[in-house]
Amino acid sequence: MSYETILVEQKGGVTLITLNRPQALNALNSQVLADLTDAFAKFDADDSQRCAVLTGSEKAFAAGADIKEMSSQSFADMYGSNFFAGYDRVTATRKPWIAAVAGWALGGGCELAMMADFIIAADSAKFGQPEIKLAVTPGMGGSQRLTRAVGKAKAMEMCLTGRNMDAAEAESAGLVARVVPAADLVAEALKSAEAIAGMAPLAAIAAKEMVNAAFETTLQQGVVFERRLFHGLFGSEDQKEGMAAFIEKRPGNWTGR
Ligand code: CAA
Repeated sequence: MSYETILVEQKGGVTLITLNRPQALNALNSQVLADLTDAFAKFDADDSQRCAVLTGSEKAFAAGADIKEMSSQSFADMYGSNFFAGYDRVTATRKPWIAAVAGWALGGGCELAMMADFIIAADSAKFGQPEIKLAVTPGMGGSQRLTRAVGKAKAMEMCLTGRNMDAAEAESAGLVARVVPAADLVAEALKSAEAIAGMAPLAAIAAKEMVNAAFETTLQQGVVFERRLFHGLFGSEDQKEGMAAFIEKRPGNWTGR
């Protein structure tokens, strides 16, 4: 399948999606959203695919939502079309996916990266929510996901001043899982994705679901939700296989059942 604004490759059980609008530093326009939602839906529906990596270029993961596309929109246009709501279809992806970020991840770019299950950053990565400089605010979840990731102090400072965070600060603040040399970014992200793709698929989806539940529930409800999913995995063939394989000192052979 070929797209206008992204490249999609399958590497074994891993789907690599690359934002490809270099002339606009991968700014996220409506076509990017249409392409991304289609690619993520196909990834989720394809039993041969177990994990995805979303990346950009060396210079920019994405420099934000497309300012040129938005500049003349009215309140009625934005509210009426529920602009950006389409990204809920990206976050509805059930299988795990990683954002591999080099260069600029600003505004919607930072927000798209934060929709991933985790971020691996190149040492060149720069994260920010500069919308305030355009007299607007984050609109793709940044005020919520950034605050949950790094806490109120840094999130508030970034949203109010538009200050960027470099990769080292993003790692120490908990925004990214780890930082790697820029030249190794995609290889490192693919390695993590391959490790995830090698796990029993139902357990991977359950792990993702339960970690995400931590942001939606009380501790008590979250712990019960986790326990029920854990119980449920004992109805899978892969749980029998996984535990037998450990006892027999051999690798597990998963069916996804
Ligand atoms: N939208 C549309 N076009 C963009 C863009 C964006 N967000 N970011 C960059 N571009 C375009 C530039 O207009 C330029 O195009 P032209 O050559 O046709 O002029 C091209 O990409 C290259 O950009 P620059 O010349 O500006 O590159 P630079 O290296 O000098 O600067 C940058 C890089 C600091 C990232 C700068 O491009 C920049 O500040 N971009 C905008 C960042 C921003 O404000 N993002 C937030 C957008 S609003 C948003 O995202 C709302 C939301 O919450 C979802």
